[in-house]
Amino acid sequence: DDHDHHDDADDHELRVSKIRNGTVIDHVRGGQALNVLAILGIDGSEGEEVSVGMNVPSDRLARKDIVKVEGRELSQDEVDVLSLIAPDATINIVRDYEVIEKHRVERPDVVTGVLSCPNPGCITTAGEPVTSRFEVLDDGVRCTYCETIVREDIASLIDT
Ligand code: CTP
Ligand code: ZN
Repeated sequence: DDHDHHDDADDHELRVSKIRNGTVIDHVRGGQALNVLAILGIDGSEGEEVSVGMNVPSDRLARKDIVKVEGRELSQDEVDVLSLIAPDATINIVRDYEVIEKHRVERPDVVTGVLSCPNPGCITTAGEPVTSRFEVLDDGVRCTYCETIVREDIASLIDT
């Protein structure tokens, strides 16, 4: 019954419903949930079933975001890019309501083909058949070809 969906005094923790099959991206830095959706190419226009919690209290982080995507498991490329904006994230694979796999994201040394260089003079943006390649720094990413460093708003470099 729909009235049961209101905040339940016995369940202070669960803000967003459990999912049946899919992926829960947990412990995302507060404020990054919309960038997580951008990385996954989710804008709701294809009817994707997605729940988002923003700035919810967390034990591990002061405030966290959480993204639950029904019916989808993530590729390693997607997880690699997620790690750049959500370095503490936990990826939980859910099947039949149970978490069957849980792992922390790891920052890769290099990401290829997922970010595009913001430098218009870079060979990777000049229409040549060169795949983008960025080295992952502690505080940003650096284009291997033109050495442009991006520290803020890495999500805006995501190739769509
Ligand atoms: N979750 C979900 N739907 C399910 C199962 C789990 O949305 N069917 C969510 C939980 O709400 C939680 C996350 O997936 O946000 C991880 O679930 P679980 O491992 O059960 O929780 P914790 O043990 O609290 O996870 P952690 O130790 O990683 O904080
Ligand atoms: Zn470049």
